[in-house]
Amino acid sequence: MQEKHAWNERLDLGHDALDREHHLQIALVSGLADAIERGRPRMARRLLEQLTGYSKEHFAGEELLMEAGGYRLLPAHRQEHQAILAEIQEIQYLFDRAEYDLAAPMALDLLTGLGSHIAASDRRFAEHAEQAPAATVSAAATASDPDEGIVLA
Ligand SMILES: [Fe+2]
Ligand SMILES: [Fe+2]
Repeated sequence: MQEKHAWNERLDLGHDALDREHHLQIALVSGLADAIERGRPRMARRLLEQLTGYSKEHFAGEELLMEAGGYRLLPAHRQEHQAILAEIQEIQYLFDRAEYDLAAPMALDLLTGLGSHIAASDRRFAEHAEQAPAATVSAAATASDPDEGIVLA
């Protein structure tokens, strides 16, 4: 069997929190592809379930950090997240119909696509986050919009 644990240094972004989450996310997809290939649908189903919940949480957290940091590319990034979640859903759909032969290549595609997303789009954000200093709060914050006085750039 081909080794599918797909972590490599191009996925390391130098952002501790994101790197930790990406390690687990990639390991779950990798484990999913492996379980399908080994003919272990029950294990694959559990991995898929965990991957779905974990990815939703991870993407939501990432998007919130982007929003808090005033990241300009958030809308495009969010679309990429939605496309990845749609792929995961598609694999779930195939699983529900016991179409494991079709699910197997999709899981490998997902692994490749997620790797590209992390290496390119998440990296762009990590570099942005590194350049932007921690949020500073100015005294101009108003009661009507508590975020108004927060300077993030
Ligand atoms: Fe992302
Ligand atoms: Fe990410």
